[in-house]
Amino acid sequence: MSEQLSGKTAIITGAGSGIGRASALRFAAEGARLVLGDKTEAVHETARRVAEAGGQAVALQVNAGVEADVAKLVATALERYGQLDVAFANAGISGDMASIFETTTEAWTEVLRVNLIGPWLMIKHAGQVMADAGRGGSIIVTASVAGIRSGAGGPAYSASKAGVINLVMVSAQQLSDTQVRVNAICPGLTETGMTKPTFDYATEKGVTHKIGRLNPLRRAAQPEELANVALFLASDQSSYVNGQAIAVDGGLSSSHPVTRQLRGQTAV
Ligand SMILES: NC(=O)c1ccc[n+]([C@@H]2O[C@H](COP(=O)([O-])OP(=O)(O)OC[C@H]3O[C@@H](n4cnc5c(N)ncnc54)[C@H](O)[C@@H]3O)[C@@H](O)[C@H]2O)c1
Repeated sequence: MSEQLSGKTAIITGAGSGIGRASALRFAAEGARLVLGDKTEAVHETARRVAEAGGQAVALQVNAGVEADVAKLVATALERYGQLDVAFANAGISGDMASIFETTTEAWTEVLRVNLIGPWLMIKHAGQVMADAGRGGSIIVTASVAGIRSGAGGPAYSASKAGVINLVMVSAQQLSDTQVRVNAICPGLTETGMTKPTFDYATEKGVTHKIGRLNPLRRAAQPEELANVALFLASDQSSYVNGQAIAVDGGLSSSHPVTRQLRGQTAV
């Protein structure tokens, strides 16, 4: 099979770690030329790894929640590669777990800026360029199972991710007749920089077997498993998928929290 992103140019934010870095390596392996953005200098290490594997990437240290920085990512794609086909607004922060009664306006504002305003800015700038070029395109945002219902993150985080799920629906409609598709991925617990404290804590307590056991696959995801879904949405393999939020959570969100009926057991 030929490379799935051959001839395409893609922007990925949050590319310095976790799902973003795994997606950068996967997209490059499938032939994409990349513009990588992250607020940390780790984005340069991702670009180095892409180049080491024979791919092409330019790295920019930017804030994905600032309009001028998002515009710069889009402009860089056009300057370096002459086109933009895929934009993956993946950068995110978890914020704190304080209740809605204890959290602050400042904490909420920062989470919304990165997790909700950031993806909107990417859709605004990348979507405009893609629509003007008339060649279609794919915009992907990273939401979360936390955006589907409560219980998987702090209040601001959950609200920001729910907002992004609605944003892809609205955007898909507003980009009607452009052949630009907009979709969200909703990861469940994935082993990345964001969740390192959870994994470190479990290791320290000797309870790593408990991680992810609430989903039927009974494990956490690896970032490469999310990158595979991002690749599908970026590629023409998903040419008729639009305005959707796809849960990639081992089945976690497929059930209410009930006692599970296992094979060979009778329901009680
Ligand atoms: N890890 C999980 O369990 C999980 C679950 C659901 C959703 N997500 C989402 O996945 C996405 C990727 O996170 P991850 O799990 O790979 O975590 P991660 O911390 O490993 O990677 C996130 C990257 O985003 C960057 N970043 C944060 N704020 C930024 C900003 N303002 N501008 C530019 N870059 C910024 C960070 O520097 C980091 O490199 C996030 O949107 C997160 O909310 C993660």
